[in-house]
Amino acid sequence: MTTNKKNRTTKNRTGKHTQKSKNSVSLLAPRKNDAVNLLKRELEEKITSLTKANRQLKREIFDLYTVFEISRNFNAVLNYEQLLDTFIFTSLAQVGASKASVYLAQKRQDEFYVVAKHKGSGEFPDQKLSFKAGTPLINYLTKLNRPVMTHDLMKELANDKEQKILDRFHPGLVVPLIYQSNLSGLLLITDKISEREFSKDDIEFLSILGNQISVAIENTRLYEAEKRAIEQLRSTQQQLVHSERLAALGEMSAKVAHEINNPLGIIKNYILLIRQTAQDNDEIINYSKILGEEIDRIARIVRELLDFHRPKGLEFQKVDVAKVLGDVLLLIERQLENKNIKLIKRFDPQCPQIEASPENLKQVFLNIIINASDVMNEGGKLDVSVGCDGESVLVKFCDTGPGIPPENIPRIFEPFFSTKEPSKGTGLGLSVCYGIVKRHNGIITYKNVDTGGCFEIKLPINNSSDE
Ligand SMILES: Nc1ncnc2c1ncn2[C@@H]1O[C@H](COP(=O)(O)OP(=O)(O)OP(=O)(O)O)[C@@H](O)[C@H]1O
Ligand SMILES: [Mg+2]
Repeated sequence: MTTNKKNRTTKNRTGKHTQKSKNSVSLLAPRKNDAVNLLKRELEEKITSLTKANRQLKREIFDLYTVFEISRNFNAVLNYEQLLDTFIFTSLAQVGASKASVYLAQKRQDEFYVVAKHKGSGEFPDQKLSFKAGTPLINYLTKLNRPVMTHDLMKELANDKEQKILDRFHPGLVVPLIYQSNLSGLLLITDKISEREFSKDDIEFLSILGNQISVAIENTRLYEAEKRAIEQLRSTQQQLVHSERLAALGEMSAKVAHEINNPLGIIKNYILLIRQTAQDNDEIINYSKILGEEIDRIARIVRELLDFHRPKGLEFQKVDVAKVLGDVLLLIERQLENKNIKLIKRFDPQCPQIEASPENLKQVFLNIIINASDVMNEGGKLDVSVGCDGESVLVKFCDTGPGIPPENIPRIFEPFFSTKEPSKGTGLGLSVCYGIVKRHNGIITYKNVDTGGCFEIKLPINNSSDE
């Protein structure tokens, strides 16, 4: 019973309660719907803003990741060209643009910012147009140190030249590349593929990337300068070793030549005596003639050896190098023509006269031309030029022969180095040239070029000879 009562009570209580709730739902229903709708709207807005924030975050992560990857890459790249390529390509790809240029401070004098690279499609400014350091626009960009829209610069700041460059990137962005508060260059970028304006993210990304590249450019410049200095040092060392070796060789050859000269004179006298005593003996006369010729050959070699060590000096005088060379060419022109070798002469008439021995110079020019003619048996071209650079007169001989195998180049100025048959060459021609040029305080060099070989002789304009 109690249980039943209890049950009823519970029932009743429950029933009562249920009824009460029903009454309140019917009263509260419209308000609850409003609340749900409000909640729904708020939720939707939240989701939209979260999605937006998420997208933004993703872009930022992507940008940061790219910057991270790129700066790792920048640090690893020490090649200037490759570095600029990577920078400009990444900038275009990341912000979805299709045209950009990088202007960089010139390496030696930082007075102008000249174009270093263009990439993309469309018309680019004239190569000759550059930005000049110290203009209001350059000062403004240096101070601002962040990307700026072209239209903000074009209104008042840019001068005519700058305007012409900016025109080609308008509407677009100018990104200053700053290294240690100095402007090392500019990135100009335009033509978004989406045809939208550059966004805040684009600007942020290019700003960070700009800072990274400035450091990398500076590193590359330092690295390349160091590389050049090391190469210069190596080449100077090689030249030093080479000229010391040649000097030692010259000294030794001169001593030997000197020792040979005396007995040679005696032999020559005895040959004359034999010829006189032979009277009508044709055989002996013939033999002594051959002996005499061979002795003359030895005497010539000995003379050349002595010339290599210390060329016999004819007086030094004021000389027009082009005129001396012209005289030599007159002598040999016909011979070259017969061998089907085309002679090209390019003489700068403005070059000053120098203190030199014209006879010695003739010998040098002749040796080089004969060598060139020897290697162009099938015909070819000999380009001879005389120019000057304020410090030296430069004489160049470029032939279209086979060139010299790289392993032989360091040896060509050594006495007796020859690749010719013994009857055709003794290997003294170039060593004599070397000795003469050295006595003029000049330099003689050889290099292989695509078309053949080139000898260059540099003779100082203000020369005080060691005579
Ligand atoms: N224009 C050239 N092109 C290719 N090889 C050259 C040229 N000039 C010189 N050589 C090389 O350099 C070597 C040395 O030249 P060098 O003038 O000293 O001696 P040579 O011509 O062999 O003999 P010599 O001049 O005493 O008659 C030559 O044997 C040749 O191998
Ligand atoms: Mg020779």
